Formats: sequence, C-alpha cells, structure tokens
Amino acid sequence: MANAHVIENLSRVVTCGAGGPLIGPAMRELGVRTGDPCVAVRDGRVAFVGARRDLPADYSNASRVDGKGRVLTPGLVDCHTHPAFVRARAEEFAMRLAGASYEEIAAQGGGILSSTRAVRGSDDTTLTAQTTRNLLRLRKHGVFVAEGKSGYGLNLKDELRQLHAIKAAGEQADMHTVRTCLAAHSLPAEFRGDDGKRAQYLRLVIDEILPAAARNGLAQRADVFCEQGVFTEGETRAVAQAAERLGLQVTIHAEQLHLTGGAAVAAQVGAVSADHLEFIDDAGARAMADAGTCAVLLPGSTYVLKMDRWADGRRLIDMGLCVALATDFNPGSSPVANPAFVMNLAVMHCGFTPEEALAAFTVNAARALRLPAGEYGAITAGSRAAFALWDVDHEREIAYYAGSNLCEGLSCPGWRS
Ligand code: NIG
Ligand code: FE
Repeated sequence: MANAHVIENLSRVVTCGAGGPLIGPAMRELGVRTGDPCVAVRDGRVAFVGARRDLPADYSNASRVDGKGRVLTPGLVDCHTHPAFVRARAEEFAMRLAGASYEEIAAQGGGILSSTRAVRGSDDTTLTAQTTRNLLRLRKHGVFVAEGKSGYGLNLKDELRQLHAIKAAGEQADMHTVRTCLAAHSLPAEFRGDDGKRAQYLRLVIDEILPAAARNGLAQRADVFCEQGVFTEGETRAVAQAAERLGLQVTIHAEQLHLTGGAAVAAQVGAVSADHLEFIDDAGARAMADAGTCAVLLPGSTYVLKMDRWADGRRLIDMGLCVALATDFNPGSSPVANPAFVMNLAVMHCGFTPEEALAAFTVNAARALRLPAGEYGAITAGSRAAFALWDVDHEREIAYYAGSNLCEGLSCPGWRS
C-alpha cells in the first residue's frame, strides 16, 4: 500500500475521543488505548486505531514508525497566539519585575505599541523569518495547529503583512495555521488624542482592514481587545458585528484585567470563543454556555503578568462550557511557547485535572477554532496524521513534569494536504 504508515511500539494512545468537544465530566475521559496499541495512517490521515493484533492485513507492507514505548496523543492545537512579532520585549519584562504594571508600560507607549513600531519598521523577509522562528518554537513543543493573530500592524498595510507572514510561516514550519485579524488590539499612536480620531480608527478597521483581511481567506477570524482603556463593550460589538457580516468568525480578548462585559458581548454576537476570562462573572459564563461560545484560558499570561487572580477553569468546566487552553504566545504578556507548562499552570492555579488540561489543548482547542470535528485534536478515523509522542508513562505526567519538554512531534507525509 502506497503512503501507508503504522506507528507501533506505543504504551498508550490517547485518542481524545472522536473529535467532538469534551464537555463537563467527559473532559476527563480521553479514550485511551492500551495493550499494544498502534495507529495506521494512509495518505496523511488516520485509518485505524486499535490493538496491533487487529491491524488489517493490507498494512503488512506499510512502513513502520517506532513509538519507542511512549505515549501518543493528538498533535497539540494552540488556539490563541500572537506569533507575528519581530523582537522580544525583555526590557519591559525587567520594568515589570521592578514594579511597573503592564497597563503603565502600555500608557507610556510601550507594550503593544512597541511591537507595532517594530513590525512596521521590518521588511517582509524579516517579518516572515521571525514569525517562522516563533511558530517553530511552538512546533518543538508538539503544536501542529496554531491560530495566529495580527494586531501589531494597526494599519491596513501592516495588518495584512502580518497575516501574510503567518500564512507563509505556517507553510515553512509545516504547521496548519488559522489566521485572525486583530486590528482592534490597541488604538495606534497616530489616532490617539481625541474622540474623533478614535472613531476614525474604528471606521478604518470596519470599512477597510477587516474587509481586506477577509478577502481570499487571508484571515478566517477577527478579534478585539475588550478592556478598560483599550476598546469598550460598544466598540467591541461594532467591530464584531462588522466581522460577522464579512463572514469572519469572531473571538474576543475578554475580562482579562477587569470585568468589562466582553464575555456577554461575545455570547450576544455568537463569537466562537472569548479568551482570558480571569474576571468573568457567572452571568457572562452562563451567556457563553447558552451561546456555545468556547472559553479559552491563557494562564501563561496570568503568570507572566504576576496577577493574583487566575481564571476559574474548574467553575467553567462544571458549568458545562467548552473550555480550551492556549499559550497566548506573544512578546509582552506571555513569552511562553510550551503548552505542557501552560497545562501545569492550569492544574496548579485554574482547577483543572491533568486529563482536562490535555483535552483543553487538543479536542476542545480544535472546537474553539471550529475546525471540522475529528480532523485535528483527536486520533480517530479521518484525523490528520499529526501527533505528539511523549516521553512519559502516563498522559497525566504531561502536566506534571513542569517546564520540561518531553514531547516530540510526529507526523506522516501528506498530513497537511
Ligand atoms: O493576549 N491582551 C492583549 N493582548 C495580548 C498581549 C499582547 C502584547 O502584550 O503584546 C494578550 O495578553
Ligand atoms: Fe492574546
């Protein structure tokens, strides 16, 4: 059989179910295969998962891949990242360690605006090379699908440059990307100072940047940073509604630093997710549950910003929301490219079990991105042949070996086509 592979010599295959989101108690049932399990792949897609003795005979000539006695999970899905940046912001990290807050640094023109100046000043080659480098940082930790946001361009030309860079970088890093236009990340410096200019920028986002981003599928989604001092509830709604009219899915940075009502807006506009949620209240969470809006928690940023309030994952899971985790990899609030470390934070601070953390970084993250059920984030017939092979004895150890990289990506030819 041509282009057929059998991954064997595995201790456990963690399927993460059949591809639909895992909600409530189901989040702890990861559909684990033991007893000499193997996975057969044909033309880049999973064709068989089960005991080696049950492998169909037509795979006898397929090429063999040695699983080294390890645990196989789906390739990880990172459903919230900001990878199109060209330089680190370690000087701000030092300022924060010395006592300055994220918001104070932003108010002085640092933060998002500092990354914006760097992106605007970069050439295309550099921007794509740095974005590829950033995606590879995730790829080395088992991520095969990354959502990537613009949001450091904040004008038509540079927002589009970022989205193109993410697309090209995904191809170079052998990753599947989902691209999100985050032109409403911050008010650019040249539009600050009076309400008229502020309104003008929002018009630019709605009338020019989002339509251009939506053209030819360059971006599939739009995002808004709904936060005190950034964009209001009303502005968030206006941008979200414009995005929907263009056929873009909507996601919102909500309730990160204060309770501002972003989660309720997300539910109202039928957003696919609301992300961060450290300050969400029960009404917002209930509205999201009713609307089917996923909750994406980003404890890497809570950690780096040294916040004393963590998102209450336990409560959101128990309320029946589809809960996912992501790195939020970015040069400011989360220079964290290691999902296993984020899973550790979720277990230590957000009330997850290790199994729930893994479900949140695979099948539920795929749901947050509205990827077709079963294609990514699960190991079932028809799944893309992109896996993570872990040097552990049990999947609960993934969130346990804090900060180590015990993961090796494993994919079969044709998995992206
Ligand atoms: O998800 N909250 C807003 N945006 C990012 C941070 C971006 C930055 O600081 O560059 C976040 O935390
Ligand atoms: Fe973010």
